[in-house]
Amino acid sequence: MCGIVGAVAQRNITPILLEGLKRLEYRGYDSCGVALHVDGQLQRSRSTSRVADLEKQISDAHLQGFTGIAHTRWATHGAPASHNAHPHFSPSTEQARIALVHNGIIENHDELRAELTALGYVFQSQTDTEVIAHLVDHMYNGDLFDTVQHAVKRLTGAYAIAVFCREEPHRVVAARQGSPLIVGIGQGENFVASDAMALAGTTDQIIYLEEGDVVDLQLGRVWVVDSNGKQVQREVKTVQAHTGAAELGPYRHYMQKEIFEQPRVIGDTLEGVTGVMPELFGDGAYNVFKQIDRVLILACGTSYYSGLTAKYWIESVAKIPVNVEIASEYRYRDSVPHPNTLVVTISQSGETADTLAALKHARALGMEHTLTICNVATSAMVRECKLAYVTRAGVEVGVASTKAFTTQLAALFLLTLSLAQVNGRLTDAEEAEHLKAMRHLPVAISAVLALEPQIIAWAEDFARKENALFLGRGMHYPIALEGALKLKEISYIHAEAYPAGELKHGPLALVTEEMPVVTVAPNDVLIEKLKSNMQEVRARGGQLYVFADVDSRITSGEGVHVIRLPEHYGLLSPILHVVSLQLLAYHAALARGTDVDKPRNLAKSVTVE
Ligand code: M6R
Repeated sequence: MCGIVGAVAQRNITPILLEGLKRLEYRGYDSCGVALHVDGQLQRSRSTSRVADLEKQISDAHLQGFTGIAHTRWATHGAPASHNAHPHFSPSTEQARIALVHNGIIENHDELRAELTALGYVFQSQTDTEVIAHLVDHMYNGDLFDTVQHAVKRLTGAYAIAVFCREEPHRVVAARQGSPLIVGIGQGENFVASDAMALAGTTDQIIYLEEGDVVDLQLGRVWVVDSNGKQVQREVKTVQAHTGAAELGPYRHYMQKEIFEQPRVIGDTLEGVTGVMPELFGDGAYNVFKQIDRVLILACGTSYYSGLTAKYWIESVAKIPVNVEIASEYRYRDSVPHPNTLVVTISQSGETADTLAALKHARALGMEHTLTICNVATSAMVRECKLAYVTRAGVEVGVASTKAFTTQLAALFLLTLSLAQVNGRLTDAEEAEHLKAMRHLPVAISAVLALEPQIIAWAEDFARKENALFLGRGMHYPIALEGALKLKEISYIHAEAYPAGELKHGPLALVTEEMPVVTVAPNDVLIEKLKSNMQEVRARGGQLYVFADVDSRITSGEGVHVIRLPEHYGLLSPILHVVSLQLLAYHAALARGTDVDKPRNLAKSVTVE
């Protein structure tokens, strides 16, 4: 997704801008660019290739400067083309005065475009961003900070912007509304970025700007005003941002590395958990858990599927009703709020725009008890929620989420146990047994990872297919959904998941000899029902690829391929079964030669609506 870096310093900032872009690269982008103040002129370099190519372009052109901004773009308005890449200039001539980068979406861009065109501005791009550049130029009054404060009042939608001006060589002005933006404080130099990670290695002194803030960055001074134009002091935090540039080590792709990291990161996520206690989720959690009588989970994509799994756990163990909603739907639909609801957001990045908006919507409806399960301690999600459990998956680089999902599940299982405990539904013996199973998870996952050679053999079959069905029942239905999402995301094979009992109500029509049907078949209470569903597939010639447990009585035969997971894992079984599906998707994508870590059209952190 789009990324911003900006700097004002007394040294050449090109390496800082490029390093920042590289750190944001893993999020996905289709073009990139840098603009600098050079000898009283604005100069820029843009590329529809990688940041490394942009770096070469800049070096070949000997571009250097003390003030500048940079951007990675993930196309929303206008194709991924050089003329749509940021920074945008205004006027769009050799004599440009304003350079601007933007994350987010401006909803009233058509109206502003018409107005600015009537004033004589000539647009070079199809972007909503160029509108802001021309607006700032049109409103420029000799003071960029003042101008931007007025200009953003004309914008409807979400934005994080950074802008500088030919007439004010030692100044960058930035503003945010609905998209994240941080300020980095240096020694006599200052920075702005869409994520603290972009500035790792440059500064660890970070200000998280709040909604509506506009900031003036000069050499020795950072000045912030809120949406009312009132000067405000924002706390400067020391942030040890992870660098996105984790080493690949012996792995071919980050996704593969991240799949294999799961035993360790689950162990890290549970480190220090000596017993089930609400305080694991933050101070005051006991009182909150005591008051609530229902749970509302809000999330997107893979995080939504971990929420769906948690519904099965919480309802069966803690006996509390759970509603799981896709954040982008929830935020716009009429729903019936209840003040005694625990609102749980789940997010790897903690910056997903839809989930943040859904959280705000829930709060606006009067639901104040908020908790997040999130992988980034410094994210907006953690800052916005009263309670939090920060998973310790570490930086997840692959666009396809893997270790974030299983660590979310570990945290959600702990939440289940804590809610059960507060509700008097967890005996000491049960607590001890569940904790023992959780602590054994790293070993159990390692045993699943050892199945990789068998899974590779299957993946080669899958690589030749264009469609696949995934079946699961009960708490393994969300795991089937996640398996299908993984496969389609990175291999581009069309994959759908169904609760196996639903097959005969329609999807069975798709089953032919050409259709591989992946079945998640743990040895649980639903196994006999699932076997009947598998018969329905076989009777139509469908090819079954069954992930069974060691003790399931399912045998291989014509059209039935079986891989056995080493042990049945009770309530935590979804955490083991999903690992086999991650490996299947990874190896199918590898066999098809796709860009596994950066699948087409996708971004790691979806910070626009
Ligand atoms: O950062 P989040 O967990 O909020 O992201 C939510 C989804 O965008 C994300 O899970 C997405 O579906 C992944 N690409 C799935 O692999």
